[in-house]
Amino acid sequence: GLHADLAGRRVVVSAGGTREALDPVRFLGNRSSGLQGYALAATAVARGARVTLVSANVALPAPAGADVRPVTSALELREAVLGAAAEADAVVMAAAVADFRPDTVAAGKIKKTGAGPAPITLVENPDILAEISGKRARPGQIVAGFAAETDNVLENGRDKLRRKGCDLLVVNQVGDGRAFGTADNQAVVLGADGSATEIPYGPKEGLADRVWDLVAERLGAGAGA
Ligand code: C5P
Repeated sequence: GLHADLAGRRVVVSAGGTREALDPVRFLGNRSSGLQGYALAATAVARGARVTLVSANVALPAPAGADVRPVTSALELREAVLGAAAEADAVVMAAAVADFRPDTVAAGKIKKTGAGPAPITLVENPDILAEISGKRARPGQIVAGFAAETDNVLENGRDKLRRKGCDLLVVNQVGDGRAFGTADNQAVVLGADGSATEIPYGPKEGLADRVWDLVAERLGAGAGA
């Protein structure tokens, strides 16, 4: 990404991991560090894009030049991403969004009662990636998602790409300490056009640049806004 091939383009990147509140002090969360999403934002800025970074619970310095929108929960992330997507040429969903959230948030801290723990009932969160892919706020908008798979990586990836309806799905193999919280990453990027692009093990910036290459190819010749 040594050229400004995203100049004039508006892109949205989601990063980090959502937290789903149980009570004022507790939440259900995940181990996403935000490193991959922040690398995507930084590389997009370097390539000339105007970047909105919807950031869920990330303890990293803000990438210079990106417009950072902090969020906590999946529902907040949805609002922020949908709002920014209305103006965007491309949306890359790198955040680990909780599939489920507790059905109620206790008003006060949940106490031990002596009667044993109360069960936690979960409800499903909206699938933001599927929603954006189905809506396409702008004609020709490119939508990319991430998927972490532990086994049958390609098969599951193809299935997920179809289900979500996105243009690109970056599939990471996880487990055995891979991907989460590490500086390096490896992936295969599946395209709705049937393409599969392998990205060798290396820094998350390198993977980010390859993802933007694939997005830029699909953006077409039209100038940005
Ligand atoms: O279904 P799964 O969680 O494996 O899909 C991962 C991809 O979908 C990621 O790009 C993630 O940001 C996105 N996602 C979403 N909304 C959800 C769950 C996941 O946009 N509720």
